[in-house]
Amino acid sequence: MKGSEAVKSKSIPEYWAIKPGFEEEIKKIINERPEPEISLDYEIAENDYVKTGKASSDVKFFLKKLGVNPEVLRRVAVASYEAEINVTAHSKGGKVTANIYSDYIIMMFEDYGPGIADIEQAMQPGFSTANELAREMGFGAGLGLPNIKKNCDGMYLSSEPGGSTTLIFFIYYEEKSYAAK
Ligand SMILES: Nc1ncnc2c1ncn2[C@@H]1O[C@H](COP(=O)(O)OP(=O)(O)OP(=O)(O)O)[C@@H](O)[C@H]1O
Ligand SMILES: [Mg+2]
Repeated sequence: MKGSEAVKSKSIPEYWAIKPGFEEEIKKIINERPEPEISLDYEIAENDYVKTGKASSDVKFFLKKLGVNPEVLRRVAVASYEAEINVTAHSKGGKVTANIYSDYIIMMFEDYGPGIADIEQAMQPGFSTANELAREMGFGAGLGLPNIKKNCDGMYLSSEPGGSTTLIFFIYYEEKSYAAK
């Protein structure tokens, strides 16, 4: 590294977590992002703990109407709520798009910075830089990202200091997603 580092093209740190056995399939879908049947968009405001959570409750309601089973609804709601709160608590705000397909959902969160200093560290249970307001609201245990990872079939996180943070998660509606657990 050292000397050559300055001339290397900068690559943004990224983190993938995919259920064993589904790596290729899910990574391909996330990368190619096919045209969804339904797409829902929401803004997520900084420090607004009253409004945040709207996307997760709407998406849960929507999937329920489609007949998605309660256990999967719960996993989608937990993951999306944690991700929404993270944008509210740790960033200058951002947006989320929920892409709904016939067999799975992909949710994409993108914020306006300030980014994550060290993604691997952020993924560690118990690590938190939550500010005072977030802690007053009951957040800051450092368990949100691990919880997202636990409830998804696929998760992608990319961020760099000073840049924006992108979190994408993928959840199948059917039991086949549990097969590899
Ligand atoms: N969108 C984001 N922008 C900047 N930093 C983030 C973002 N999301 C997470 N982080 C960083 O990753 C850390 C860990 O996030 P995680 O969700 O696991 O815990 P937390 O939000 O601090 O606490 P909890 O989710 O348990 O209430 C955060 O404290 C923050 O430093
Ligand atoms: Mg969190």
